[in-house]
Amino acid sequence: MKLSQFGQQLGSDAGIVDLMEDLGHALNVDPDLLFLGGGNPAQIPEFETIVADQLAAIIEQPERLHKLIGTYQSPRGSEDFIDGFVEYVNETLGWGIHKGQVMLTNGSQSAFFILLNMLTGKPADEVSEAPVARVVFPMMPEYLGYADQFISPDAMRGVMPKLERIGEHRFKYHIDFDSLSLSARDAAVCVSRPSNPTGNVISSEELSRLTECAHDLSIPVIIDCAYGHPFPGIFYADDDMPYDARNIYVMSCSKLGLPGARTGIVVGPEAIIDKMVKVNTVASLANGNLGPAIVQSLMQRDMLSNVCREVLLPFYRRKRDLAIASVDRALAGLPYRMHVSEGAFFVWLWIEGLPISSSALYQRMKKKGVLIMDGAHFFFGVDEHPADAMLARHRKECIRLTFCQSDDVIIKAIDILGDELRSLF
Ligand SMILES: Cc1ncc(COP(=O)(O)O)c(C=O)c1O
Repeated sequence: MKLSQFGQQLGSDAGIVDLMEDLGHALNVDPDLLFLGGGNPAQIPEFETIVADQLAAIIEQPERLHKLIGTYQSPRGSEDFIDGFVEYVNETLGWGIHKGQVMLTNGSQSAFFILLNMLTGKPADEVSEAPVARVVFPMMPEYLGYADQFISPDAMRGVMPKLERIGEHRFKYHIDFDSLSLSARDAAVCVSRPSNPTGNVISSEELSRLTECAHDLSIPVIIDCAYGHPFPGIFYADDDMPYDARNIYVMSCSKLGLPGARTGIVVGPEAIIDKMVKVNTVASLANGNLGPAIVQSLMQRDMLSNVCREVLLPFYRRKRDLAIASVDRALAGLPYRMHVSEGAFFVWLWIEGLPISSSALYQRMKKKGVLIMDGAHFFFGVDEHPADAMLARHRKECIRLTFCQSDDVIIKAIDILGDELRSLF
């Protein structure tokens, strides 16, 4: 079969495909695997009961049921949901957005596919020699789901972070503004907040400095809010989210506990939203109705912020504390450091001087029945041979663990990791 460059490139092996295959295998085929891999949210029975109640209420009313299963929505996405969403965001975050700045997609992953490719590649209105426009990820490591989405080669650039060691066993990344140096080629800056994979939350000061650097070149900052605002709000410390009408905010219903509903939300300048709506309609025709129907029902009943604050956040905080305590116990005496955990569902571990690569460690753990994430996948678009030898090694010394599984699985898997590392050292 003869494939186009698009088919060849996007149909090749990719980090995100491996990750989702591991996830699918562990969650659907082989439940005995101890799964600390992908980014599936936890199963929280209290949340699922609340969702079931909303669905039961919809099923009882033929008009609402028909809207859920029997209608295509308008191109922008469910009008009712968007009205409710605008009100919710303006009330809870004080943003002051309006309907024309919002659109829905089938999951935020596809919002990124559209957005990243609309902004990068050969500029539409320039001569053929113009360099391809690219997106800058200002603080590696970043969500590996962005890495394989670019249709145009050479359309992304990752910037290595500054690394702060904290105490004996913690550390934190910061944006290295000296290395950032944006140029006329750059079409946007993109950052996840809270960060997948590290659980870092860049401070409001860093965010506004980043925004100023981007706006000097009249380009937007894309802020991936999948784990943050307006929901599910998984912040363990600083949780403010200043709004700037020039930036683009990509949100998701997945990490609330609805990854199966495939609902993403984009808030941005109308000019870009209008274009995205057209691309999304060409590619998908219309968005799914399930996510908007459930979340709208929670907003209408004034339940959404309570669910986030009273059900989800305490649940993840407890899991996070358990995972951190388990690592500190199982890896005691080893040269490890955990990234300070400020949000999201992950522990990001740096094992300094790891005698094998993080990818070899992933393979060894898999043989022991434990799935972890090889951290090297999250350092993309960076210089293959960075001048800083410590950072070059660092990229192969990190792993990501999710704490969304049962307490038993978390403790058992981390104990096995501790044994494995002990034998390696
Ligand atoms: C940071 C981040 N952004 C976006 C996504 C995509 O999520 P979805 O397509 O389910 O909205 C994920 C999924 O894991 C993620 O971790």
